Amino acid sequence: MQDIKLLDNEYIIGTYNRQNLSIVSGNSATCFDENDKEYIDFSSGIGVNSLGYCDDEWSFAVAKQASLLQHTSNLYYTEPAVKLAKLLCEKTGYKKVLFCNSGAEANEAAIKLARKYSFDKYGSDVNRNKILTLKNSFHGRTITTLSATGQEVFHNYFFPFTQGFEFANSNDIDEVLSILNSGDYCGVMIEFIQGEGGVIPLECDFVKKLFAYCEEADILTIADEVQTGIGRTGKLLASEHFDAKPNITSLAKGLGGGLPIGAIITDEKTCDVFKFSDHGTTFGGNPVACAGAYVALQRIADDSFLAEVQAKGEYIKWELSSLPEVLAIDGMGMMLGIRLKSKNAGEIVKKGIEKGLILLTAKDKIRLLPPLNITMQELNKGLSILKEILA
Ligand SMILES: Cc1ncc(COP(=O)(O)O)c(C=O)c1O
Repeated sequence: MQDIKLLDNEYIIGTYNRQNLSIVSGNSATCFDENDKEYIDFSSGIGVNSLGYCDDEWSFAVAKQASLLQHTSNLYYTEPAVKLAKLLCEKTGYKKVLFCNSGAEANEAAIKLARKYSFDKYGSDVNRNKILTLKNSFHGRTITTLSATGQEVFHNYFFPFTQGFEFANSNDIDEVLSILNSGDYCGVMIEFIQGEGGVIPLECDFVKKLFAYCEEADILTIADEVQTGIGRTGKLLASEHFDAKPNITSLAKGLGGGLPIGAIITDEKTCDVFKFSDHGTTFGGNPVACAGAYVALQRIADDSFLAEVQAKGEYIKWELSSLPEVLAIDGMGMMLGIRLKSKNAGEIVKKGIEKGLILLTAKDKIRLLPPLNITMQELNKGLSILKEILA
């Protein structure tokens, strides 16, 4: 560990405040360090390892594809990308998919698409290219997705930012509609549950009114489901909890089950906006990533699997919410944020690692994003460590 830490400090640019842990291997929701110490993982690598570490079926599909064809350019057809796109459309009701490699890239694509939609339909004379996002949102780390991110702390140093973004308060429908009324907007981008912002769900009534207005005004609705998507909240897409059908949904994180992949899924209004050469990325639709994602999606997009995610989320809430240190638990399914009465969330994460439990924070909350298929045995083991720390 000491060697790795020294080498990391020497050779890797220090943009992450790493915990004192080097993970070597894992299975299901359990992983091990170099001394074979066991950890229960309630983080899934920030919501990525949706089927846990090294799921048998997922690993087999990835290894098989890696030994058959690891990459070819997007100038050619490949079966894994087509199979995954078809399954995504069938399971979500969307029309077409565009693949990329991360959440930020998926959001970039969605923003470009919304602007092109408006340009195609209303022309360049009309300045209808702005995107409204919400305060406290997080949409990625590229210059444009930082511009879309509604948190001042991310707007240091890197100016000038991409123009054309405004921020409104979540759940303040009057403010949102008064901004959108200007006629300058081509899109609205939201997270149904703000993840990095502290696991904060939107109110259903706000979403309903916002979507109705946007439909009427031909403003595209973009859902950033990079963190909430693919079963995380107990539904395949978090939009289902809100009875909403965004024109574009961005996905990444849990979609790949552990390999880098991002995607936008588009409806009938938006699926044919991008034409030849309007967008592209070398690695988008990589066959190995798509083969893994296909397994993850097929397993997760199943009613009984999703019902279990929901039930495990309820179980976690039930087990923890009566603890004296717990003020409240926010979130849905297995995307949960624990509000604490007096303890510091960062300190709890450190204690967790000492005791063999991997946790996350989101603002001042403890954030739980366990693998969706965590076993009850692992869940109970992790919860008893967490209870001990919170006591
Ligand atoms: C809601 C949301 N959007 C976008 C991103 C950026 O994704 P990536 O880190 O894959 O670029 C994240 C990452 O945390 C996220 O939570």
